[in-house]
Amino acid sequence: MLDKKLIGPFKQLLSLDHVPLKGAISDQQINLLTHVGILIEKGKIIALTDYDELKEQHTSTAELIRIEADAVCVPGYIDCHTHIAFAGNRANDFALRNAGSSYLEIAESGGGIWSTVKHTRAASEKELITAIIDRANFLLSQGITTIEVKSGYGLSIQEELKILRALKKAQDFVAVDLVPTCLAAHMKPKDYEGTSEDYLTEMATHLFPVLKAEELSNRIDAFIEKSAFSAIEIQSYFRKAQALGFDITVHADQFSTAGSQVAIQFNAVSADHLEASTAIEIAHLANSNTVAVALPGASIGIGCAFTPARKLLDQGACLAIATDWNPGSAPMGQLMTQATILATAEKLSNAEVFAAITFRAAQALHLTDRGRMAVGEWADFSIYKTDNYQNITYLQGTMQPEQVWKKGIMIYQKGEQR
Ligand code: NIG
Ligand code: FE
Repeated sequence: MLDKKLIGPFKQLLSLDHVPLKGAISDQQINLLTHVGILIEKGKIIALTDYDELKEQHTSTAELIRIEADAVCVPGYIDCHTHIAFAGNRANDFALRNAGSSYLEIAESGGGIWSTVKHTRAASEKELITAIIDRANFLLSQGITTIEVKSGYGLSIQEELKILRALKKAQDFVAVDLVPTCLAAHMKPKDYEGTSEDYLTEMATHLFPVLKAEELSNRIDAFIEKSAFSAIEIQSYFRKAQALGFDITVHADQFSTAGSQVAIQFNAVSADHLEASTAIEIAHLANSNTVAVALPGASIGIGCAFTPARKLLDQGACLAIATDWNPGSAPMGQLMTQATILATAEKLSNAEVFAAITFRAAQALHLTDRGRMAVGEWADFSIYKTDNYQNITYLQGTMQPEQVWKKGIMIYQKGEQR
């Protein structure tokens, strides 16, 4: 068996190598390679250059996988913010919002996050695992090879653990990488007798050590909002998380500002949402190491403003885009469609869109081994049957990849049930 693979030739390959981590990017900076081959060994890219040259050098040492039709290769996409570990649905919330009720009003009257908590608590671990697998595979069919998944619909030690253990088990049944995040601080559960501080103290004291011991998550998230936790309440929770070595991420500035300041204070890996961010928050984020994550699926699902992505980029922020797939605010789960709708509203270049769902999204997850097609990175990529990469954004998510590869192995082929 040959232990190397040579795949190509690709009419175009979107490398994104050397594209900056922060700030605006023009399409001239995109680093587009033509007639290129990818040489893979042990799941990693070991060469990326002219196909004919590679073929001549490696014809007897590498398995040749020839791409016959015109094809474009892009890095595997990274969805750095999802809530796909849930049961039930909130179609009624969607109808109520479109009839005039607000997201927060629905939450206060018994819908919202709490109704999904009740459904998720009622689901068995096995049911949750099946739901996670199905949704992860739907994202895979879009070319997504790394998926962040939050807990947050358990809201008790036992139920948060059920979700995070289900995620760990689901990993054995999906070919994409799942990156679990503990969102026990999604809201104070309605059945908790005690203050918000009591709840957070209990979670930090009794849940955090189990996350470490069972290796369930390295990341702690909190929803900082009027309906959830205040910037003050969350201080000691985040301090305890950081002392244990967790990465911090924040649901920030969704309806009101405060969250992004906390994210920056704690040097969070990301501040996500930011629909309500004003000039001050934008300037602070741009000057920080915290990735600004836009969630256009939530703007579309709720019917509110988009994250000010253009301003964030122009001031120098690192902007990622994710689906926020969840049953309430963002039920769609279509990354490219959402990213390209945001692009038309906010005037984002193709380079900015692709960066936001590849290496900049990897940065939001503290991952440095993926998101670009470059020597040394994992061979995670998708192949589209087209001769021009611009068609991918132009068709706004309706053109799907023909194949998806993960760590040098084809894990998805369009039209094939696996
Ligand atoms: O990111 N904003 C808070 N959390 C989720 C929504 C969760 C839900 O509505 O179930 C979000 O939009
Ligand atoms: Fe979210």
